[in-house]
Amino acid sequence: MTDLDAALGAAGLTGPTGLKERIAAELAAVRERSLAYTDADDDMLVRQHSLLMSPLVWDLAHVGNYEELWVLREVGGIEPLRPEIDHLYDAFKYPRKDRPSLPLLDPAEARKYISGVRGRVLDVLDRVDLTAPDPLRSGGYVFGLVLQHEHQHDETMLATLQLSRRPGLVRDGELPPGRPGADPEVHIPAGVFTMGTGGGTDTVAWAYDNERPAHRLYLPGYRIDRHPVTNGAYLEFVEDGGYRDPRWWLPQGWEWVERNGVEAPLFWTRDGDVWWRVRFGREEPVPPEEPVQHVSWYEADAYARWAGKRLPTEAEWEKACGGRTYPWGEADPGHHGRWANLGHRAARPAPAGAFPDGASPYGVEQLIGDVWEWTDSWFQPYPGYRCFPYEEYSKVFFGETHRVLRGGSWATHPSAVRTTFRNWDYPIRRQIFAGFRCARSEE
Ligand SMILES: [Fe+2]
Repeated sequence: MTDLDAALGAAGLTGPTGLKERIAAELAAVRERSLAYTDADDDMLVRQHSLLMSPLVWDLAHVGNYEELWVLREVGGIEPLRPEIDHLYDAFKYPRKDRPSLPLLDPAEARKYISGVRGRVLDVLDRVDLTAPDPLRSGGYVFGLVLQHEHQHDETMLATLQLSRRPGLVRDGELPPGRPGADPEVHIPAGVFTMGTGGGTDTVAWAYDNERPAHRLYLPGYRIDRHPVTNGAYLEFVEDGGYRDPRWWLPQGWEWVERNGVEAPLFWTRDGDVWWRVRFGREEPVPPEEPVQHVSWYEADAYARWAGKRLPTEAEWEKACGGRTYPWGEADPGHHGRWANLGHRAARPAPAGAFPDGASPYGVEQLIGDVWEWTDSWFQPYPGYRCFPYEEYSKVFFGETHRVLRGGSWATHPSAVRTTFRNWDYPIRRQIFAGFRCARSEE
């Protein structure tokens, strides 16, 4: 039993009825979050702030449409509310760059639509049998699906808000101080470990298909950084001419640097000897002790080569977590703040060493939260992968096009990350809250 289960048990929130109350509370919380990120004037919401991103109003209506498709139609058997808008919010129909020119719902219509969907979703929740053998109903899987989906879009909205460079829309908060010292690398001994999570929906109730099935894997011994690479460390690479030396870059990465004139992480600018960054519309000196973010996979890979190291594989990253749901154990990170920087408690990563209680059994810190961590691995299915419940979540992205990111960022909600969770993106992408840590093989 986890701390969360114990707390829920004490509050009478376990069992099928308790689970429903918990789901209802989580649904209310995620909607509050989505509405907070879209609490802006209409121009801000309908404008496209970057060709990489949808207008915020698209994300807002899309989460409601996804909820309608899966909970109302698929599980509830309810007739479509607005079938004529489905195509507009199908993430595969139109590329993001084309979405502003679509006849999207305006902000007021979007809010009305998603709240209409939500009302019916709560009715379905009320009458659905969460002990049914059907994998969408069992353990409330379909609600976990829409909850995580909305939180994932909330993180995307934060990335859009960062790209907009508009100040005053994203709140900041307090974080614990960093803690220097300790050996910068951790040794992980050779051996077999279990990667991924169980085949059933009951092991980690809301895990995605790409995290399954659990499988045993042998890894030789390796060393992995105790903390993500900090701005201070990354700055040494910049100052050492790292962006001007093709030795450190893969050919495609070097081509990307040259073509785009890249010379520092996204949102950084130099003023004399001082590096500044823009964070949610405000300029501030780059804090040296904070994990670097807004770097592409190519930058992470080049830094690692310059440092005489390499990026960890995703198996090495996951093994360093110690085989638990979270590096610190099974306790839900949402209920206490002492393990990880998740769920937008502040609008930035925490300094290195800020979460010693969140260390894995090996002593590796800040694996969960702070910054997504690029790994060396392509996004591929695990042996025995079975698509569920639809191909467009993971399956269509498998191959040698996307690199895997692990661990979630400061912007990731606790319900949308765990040690088995896999994210992926193109190796040139920098708008996500991504950094990295390095590894090296044992000599
Ligand atoms: Fe989506």
